[in-house]
Order: sequence, then C-alpha cells, then structure tokens
Amino acid sequence: MPDITTEADVRVLVDTFYNKVREDTLLDPIFSDVAKVDWEHHLPKMYAFWNGMILGKAGYNGRPFPLHAVLPVGKEYFERWLELFKETVKENFEGEGADRANNAAASIAHTFATRMGLIDPMASQML
Ligand code: HEM
Repeated sequence: MPDITTEADVRVLVDTFYNKVREDTLLDPIFSDVAKVDWEHHLPKMYAFWNGMILGKAGYNGRPFPLHAVLPVGKEYFERWLELFKETVKENFEGEGADRANNAAASIAHTFATRMGLIDPMASQML
C-alpha cells in the first residue's frame, strides 16, 4: 500500500472520503440539505487544507471552525465523520503521511466537538 506523499495522493484521499460522505445517510443531509455544499467550490479548499496538514504545503488560509459551529450536529456526527475518514485512509494508504492524516483528523474533530460543547473536556472522553 502506498503512503500519502504527493498532492495527487491527497486528491485521491479527499475525493474518496467525500464520496463516502455523500453516500452516508447520517452525514449527507448536512452537506446536501443544510449547508447545500457546492462541491466544485468545496473540494479544492479541502485539497489545500489536507495538502497543508499532510504534506506541510501552504495554501489553505481559512478558519474552518465557525462554519461547523452553526451546523445541527451532535457527537455521533463527528464519530461517523472520523470513522469514514480513517476507513478511507486504511483502504488506500499506509505510512507516515497516512498517520499524519489520521492524527490531524482525530485531533481537529475532537477540538471542534469539544468547542461545540459535545464532549465534556473534564471527562477526558475521546471521539
Ligand atoms: C460532523 C463532522 C463534520 C461535518 C458535518 C462537516 C461539514 C462541513 C460543511 C457543511 C462545510 C462547509 C462547506 C461549504 O459550505 O463550503 C465544511 C467545511 C470544512 N470542513 Fe468540515 N465537517 C465536519 C468535520 C470536519 C473536520 C473534523 C475537519 C478537519 C479535520 C473539517 C474540515 C473542514 C474544512 C477545512 C472546511 C472548509 C472551510 C472553509 O471554507 O474554509 N470538517 N465542513
């Protein structure tokens, strides 16, 4: 299994992940019905975000948290998001880049869920 080492690899990761999200009965309505995401606009942002996280390449300058704070989602949405993300990595890649992807996803998902009050920080829960 290859590692994630190029921008083309990141594109495969992101495209495969969002194909899963769009087929998921829990997550898809948030993207399709609530946020009405324009995928042609969203995917290039996600390539830039993950190029930064995994390959250390500059490009994404956004602030993602406020966009998530307004979504009608509970803890189980973050659990499902992370499960699909890790599944995508596992099915396609292995190595240090794959580990960086998983660690960043878990850490940011956990941070978002905590800041949204979905996880009790005193209970040391993880997603
Ligand atoms: C419950 C889990 C999640 C849901 C339902 C969700 C949903 C969304 C939605 C609806 C958008 C806005 C798309 C748009 O209108 O353009 C978005 C943007 C984004 N999300 Fe998530 N997301 C989730 C978790 C995460 C996590 C854990 C990360 C990071 C690891 C992440 C990273 C981003 C980024 C970088 C953007 C682009 C923000 C921008 O426009 O600059 N999301 N997400």
